[in-house]
Amino acid sequence: MHGYGHFDDTAREYVILRPDTPLPWLNYLGQDEFFGLCTNTGGGYTFWRDAKLRRLTRYRYNNVPMDLGGRYLYINHNGSIWNPGWKPVQTTLDRYECRHGLGYTRITGAKGGIEVELLFFVPPGENVEIWKTTVRNTTGKPQRLTLFSFVEFCLYEALNDMTNYQRTYSIGEVEVDGSGIYHKTEYRERRDHYTLFGCTRPIDGYDTARDAFVGVHNGLHEPQVVRAGQARNSRAFGWNPIGSHQINLHLAPGASETFAFLLAYIEQGEPKFDQPYVINKTKGRQLLAKYSTPVAVDTAFEALGKVWSNLLGAYQAECPNEHANRMVNIWNQYQCLVTFNLSRTASLFETGIGRGMGFRDSNQDILGFVHMLPERARQRILDLAATQLADGTCFHQYQPLTKKGNAEIGGDFYDDHLWLILSTCAYIKETGDRAILDAPVGYADKPGSRESLLHHLETSIAYTLNHRGPHGLPLIGHADWNDCLNLNCFSKEPNESFQCAGDVDGSVAESVMIAGLFLYAAREMEQLFAWLARPDAAQRMHGHHQEMLHAVETEAWDGQWYLRAFDAESRPVGSAKCDEGKIFIESQGWCVLGGAGRDNGRALQALQSVHEHLFTPNGIILQQPAYSAYHLELGEITSYPPGVKENAGIFCHNNAWIHLALCQTGQGERALEYYLSICPSAKERQIETYRSEPYVYAQMIAGRDASCFGEAKNSWLTGTAAWTFVSVSQGLLGVQPDYEGLLIDPCIPKDWTEYKVTRRFRGVEYKITINNPDGVNRGVKCMTVDGKTVDGNRIPLFETGPVEVEVELGKALVRLPA
Ligand code: GLC
Ligand code: GLC
Repeated sequence: MHGYGHFDDTAREYVILRPDTPLPWLNYLGQDEFFGLCTNTGGGYTFWRDAKLRRLTRYRYNNVPMDLGGRYLYINHNGSIWNPGWKPVQTTLDRYECRHGLGYTRITGAKGGIEVELLFFVPPGENVEIWKTTVRNTTGKPQRLTLFSFVEFCLYEALNDMTNYQRTYSIGEVEVDGSGIYHKTEYRERRDHYTLFGCTRPIDGYDTARDAFVGVHNGLHEPQVVRAGQARNSRAFGWNPIGSHQINLHLAPGASETFAFLLAYIEQGEPKFDQPYVINKTKGRQLLAKYSTPVAVDTAFEALGKVWSNLLGAYQAECPNEHANRMVNIWNQYQCLVTFNLSRTASLFETGIGRGMGFRDSNQDILGFVHMLPERARQRILDLAATQLADGTCFHQYQPLTKKGNAEIGGDFYDDHLWLILSTCAYIKETGDRAILDAPVGYADKPGSRESLLHHLETSIAYTLNHRGPHGLPLIGHADWNDCLNLNCFSKEPNESFQCAGDVDGSVAESVMIAGLFLYAAREMEQLFAWLARPDAAQRMHGHHQEMLHAVETEAWDGQWYLRAFDAESRPVGSAKCDEGKIFIESQGWCVLGGAGRDNGRALQALQSVHEHLFTPNGIILQQPAYSAYHLELGEITSYPPGVKENAGIFCHNNAWIHLALCQTGQGERALEYYLSICPSAKERQIETYRSEPYVYAQMIAGRDASCFGEAKNSWLTGTAAWTFVSVSQGLLGVQPDYEGLLIDPCIPKDWTEYKVTRRFRGVEYKITINNPDGVNRGVKCMTVDGKTVDGNRIPLFETGPVEVEVELGKALVRLPA
């Protein structure tokens, strides 16, 4: 407990009780194609599909104060001016509460006997954000007050909108129709879509020009119209179009009124106009009519709740740790869906104009949500594969609107292609859908080509095999998973990107992490081919695995841990011999997960070294010692101040690989301890240091070399979501989807005596109870399925459920994964 708020697990909400949180605490609205960022004070913006190309409302990043601009409602109650979400006026409220829930945020503010509740959400399948608004008079006297809504329209292309004022100041256009404000910039020419900001009740005025509503010299905390208590009915002509409705209320003692504002994206089609230059508003009017009653709004909100109950129902756990339960059952799955939808595009740290959908990021995100929405995972895998090039390399990102890859943030990251194998295999294990392998995807640089997805996976394996360096290890290219380990860039020019600079052709720099990832991918392919009854191909993959394993064990073992890389001059990186950066986390994780160090004790030794050199109560540090100076031969990693980001920060994403490796080696106590060290729910007690949202994972926590050790940054859009979900749901709790059923292989603390998992798998619900009478960490002793004993630790596939599964752990060891 701390002063800012608390979890409400029953309601699946995080409740914030003060608006001045240590950082703005964000939530997302929307689950299909229409999304909004919404902070605990209503800040943020809305877009359709693509935060760069179809941004509907404005938000100025890195503003002062930090989070300013959003969905605002101003109250003028006898001259007292306030917002229910506190910002932007920041008048002290009598009561404030923000409840961030799954796909919705409910903000309630009260002052002077007036209570205003705003519920923001996007109904399933619709391109509209609803602001359900309830205004209550909690006094014994009648009250008069005036409300003003406010959004600032973005002229769709967000980068242009925030840079090209010589044009944008002259093109803004709106129309007003009843209580509908239609933002139609560029509609006359090449756009066939508009933004509607409407109100379901009659209005008493409106404004659509920012200068008229706010005033040229005023801030959002002092809009002239709100102060005057009277709208100007302004029509935007260029400059900055906004939407604001005035609503006069007269409430009897104890009375309330409920209505809604709608913010919608509408694609028109023919006929585009009603009259010359007057847009066809039929769809907009229909939408306003559809939600004109509180019942219609409430029904849509209930439907949203059902969508989430159903999604989360794919995995529910009851284990002895409340943080693990809460994260796995609610917030972690939710965050996984957000990362799936948005990849790394739009958060408080990603501006929506920089990074599109990342190839490696999105493939990993699939691991965290494929159990909830397998059909969407299928499409995503095919979209991603279509941005692979015929030689095996990949466009590092693509724009969600066009699905076209681009090289804007670089290319030739020699790990990218391998992640496609992980996502595809995870998808097939989840669904059994082998047909996806035959889907004709083609390669991005071969227009019209139709090579199958399986062809892509083979191309990926072949690429790594054909691009190895002097130690037989994979070449690294511009970087591997660690974007900042740039062994070929040698950059002395502050104006160039570390990821794009330098020449990778002919370079011999090698990555041990990619070697470990390849080991894992080759084994996945081996299992896939075995399941496809293609033993020759399986054998071939086994051979590749063995060959790479040999290279790893003979060339990449440093004595107490695995090396990280060999630089462009074949000097080791991440070796005891180095002055700084002696030990790195990524190669320990991936080599162990890929099956290295199994028979020779190195897996355990590598993990022990992680414990001794990298583990802290705030998570596992990426590498130690931190680099104190810039190294030309290592690149961006040495550009960061010691203790942050890739230079010895705690990069939570890779922590989960170690959690999984601990599980594979039977270290249940440590796996849980490590997990809790980065678990946001467990950070509530140190929230003043941690600062970020306690309900979602952050990309990075400052390491011990930083003065702000323990401070989190870059919350929400991080691979940490998917990987921690995998590590807890499949590693710790041990319920693992596999081609022919669910495998049960937990690794838990010895003092966990019993826990339960409900898992929906291929449409059937499995209710799994795990008992641990002997107090072991790992090992299934026996298992019954619907009362019948089964051999081994696989639950066979059922056609109908629910299926009751009883598992007893004990000293009889199950086989470890091959
Ligand atoms: C960021 C990037 C991801 C990369 C990681 C480590 O999370 O999105 O692609 O792997 O940083 O550098
Ligand atoms: C990743 C890294 C970040 C780096 C960036 C470069 O996001 O986390 O540190 O600056 O990639 O694109």
